[in-house]
Amino acid sequence: MGRVEDKVCLVTGGGSGLGRADAIALAKEGAKVVITDINKENGEEAAHAAGNGAIFLEHDVAEEDQWQLVIKQTLDHFDELNVVVNNAGMFIPGSVEEVTWDQYRIHQRIHMDGAFFGIKYGIETIKANGKLGAIVNIASTTALLGYHTSFAYGACKGAIRTMTSHAAIHCQQLRYNIRVNCIFPSVIQTPLIEKLYADAAAAAESAWC
Ligand SMILES: NC(=O)c1ccc[n+]([C@@H]2O[C@H](COP(=O)([O-])OP(=O)(O)OC[C@H]3O[C@@H](n4cnc5c(N)ncnc54)[C@H](O)[C@@H]3O)[C@@H](O)[C@H]2O)c1
Repeated sequence: MGRVEDKVCLVTGGGSGLGRADAIALAKEGAKVVITDINKENGEEAAHAAGNGAIFLEHDVAEEDQWQLVIKQTLDHFDELNVVVNNAGMFIPGSVEEVTWDQYRIHQRIHMDGAFFGIKYGIETIKANGKLGAIVNIASTTALLGYHTSFAYGACKGAIRTMTSHAAIHCQQLRYNIRVNCIFPSVIQTPLIEKLYADAAAAAESAWC
């Protein structure tokens, strides 16, 4: 029997990188996985790779009405929800002097608004079945340390860290059977990091030309 046998686990940004790996690992441990992503092709491929009846739902985590639809589709398909992994993300490098308002807002929408909706609708939905549930928020070491080129990203990851603490205490106070935790990965080779390195290498090369 797997460690999450028959738990319904929703992974945002599950079409690539860490989310894809999470989805595959959860399915291997017996979970019924819902992969959501803005990238339909990658999301469908990840659901196929995960197996065990995993499904893909197209979903922009920054849009509240899309969260409401994804929760409804999950309940229609699997009857309940037990775990939400708030993983979807992106990264545009930039110091506090370099970052534009638009770049700052994009980070806020995807990371902060996305995590806010995921935590809010996750708690509302998981508490309804009364069983043990979990919300896992993917932050970053940029939530804990200062980095020269991660101002907007780090600000949002710091906010996710704080949202996690408040939501966890809320669930404990109201005796909900829901754990809310945060993970702080360092650098892991995924398409996000590969693009970052490729862009940096291209910029260095053009500086020499
Ligand atoms: N890779 C690392 O080194 C690292 C380190 C610390 C934290 N993280 C965090 O881990 C998470 C996953 O990163 P990754 O490295 O796997 O990146 P990735 O680019 O490989 O995957 C991110 C996924 O999120 C999806 N996504 C982007 N915007 C979305 C939106 N608005 N709605 C739904 N899906 C959306 C993308 O389509 C993609 O499939 C992110 O939150 C990232 O900030 C990654």
